[in-house]
Amino acid sequence: MENTILFNNFLDYYPIETKKFLANFNEKYDFSEICSSLESLRDLKVLIVGDGIVDEYHYCEPMGKSGKANLIVNRYLDKEVFAGGAFAIANHVSGLCKHVQLVTLLGKENSRESFISENLKPNVKTNFFYREEGPTIVKRRYVHQYANQKLFEINFIDDRFINASLEKQIIDNLEPLVPQYDLVLISDFGHGFITENIFRAIEGKAKVLAINTQTNAANAGYNLITKYFNPNYVCLDESEVRLAAQKKHSDIEEIAQKIRKDLNANYLEVTLGKKGSIGVNYDGKINRTPVFSTNVVDTIGAGDAFFSFTAPCFAKGFSLDLVSFIGNAVGALAVQIVCNKKPVEKDDLIGFINSLIK
Ligand SMILES: Nc1ncnc2c1ncn2[C@@H]1O[C@H](COP(=O)(O)OP(=O)(O)OP(=O)(O)O)[C@@H](O)[C@H]1O
Ligand SMILES: [Mg+2]
Repeated sequence: MENTILFNNFLDYYPIETKKFLANFNEKYDFSEICSSLESLRDLKVLIVGDGIVDEYHYCEPMGKSGKANLIVNRYLDKEVFAGGAFAIANHVSGLCKHVQLVTLLGKENSRESFISENLKPNVKTNFFYREEGPTIVKRRYVHQYANQKLFEINFIDDRFINASLEKQIIDNLEPLVPQYDLVLISDFGHGFITENIFRAIEGKAKVLAINTQTNAANAGYNLITKYFNPNYVCLDESEVRLAAQKKHSDIEEIAQKIRKDLNANYLEVTLGKKGSIGVNYDGKINRTPVFSTNVVDTIGAGDAFFSFTAPCFAKGFSLDLVSFIGNAVGALAVQIVCNKKPVEKDDLIGFINSLIK
């Protein structure tokens, strides 16, 4: 499935609130200043610790109802395979920052290691650890190609916590590594890799610590940000922050402020899908930024792209409103990409920002 990144002639389609937002933003920041800020991220050394995931899209078309069961039978058409999870995060960051190191977990059964290595950018250095039992995680979606609709998903996964001897190997590897990096980014998909001991080995030793705890079908309610202490930057989506606060219906700004305070984080960004984002910071500032997307192909991975780009911006000291602006500009590009087919590239981001502000 091809997708094109559309930049031009869309400003007219924006709602009036977005136009007003951009007019105000334009008064405060200019394009060349944002470009040089993004350029300044080049030398940041980034360590990424997170679960590796292979995403598969199996395209099909419905033929009709089975005569023997209450289901629709589909004809297989084609498939695409993508490096997702922490692999996708590493690829996003690698366009912004020169030095990227990834520490991640594969499975000994069906490790997919050569596919993964071929699909990581050349400046991503890797330390792969292997779970004895179980495969590298694969999330396979069956997609109705013409309607671009996901029909069914099956995961190949063993999400029990890794055993003590593997945990020790990982901690022995991480302990000397963590202080060498300007930013440590934990991308916790809650699939059994990042144990409490692993996190404790990182916490306190990272110069700047950024975390995303992903809620997904395998871990809903079990992988909450509240298991972490004192991260500097946290990026979650709305349901992840609501679950952490155990508040389904309360005002999202109040929830965001409470969770930021409880975690003692400097910034918390809450992504809100088609409603953009809310950012809160240590001195009580609240930033609301709208989406800049006009063409949505696939939202899977958009939050990971938002997190990957905004964490280095936070680490470099960008203001809350600039972090949020960049996050939603990245989000607008990410939703035009099928799953994790390719990372959001810095040049595309700069081109897109250039179309939003002067
Ligand atoms: N439906 C949409 N329409 C427009 N923009 C979107 C949409 N969904 C996501 N975005 C953009 O992408 C950003 C992140 O998306 P979202 O809040 O869905 O993250 P997420 O749930 O963490 O996604 P994932 O975990 O799949 O990566 C949003 O802040 C927004 O800028
Ligand atoms: Mg997410």
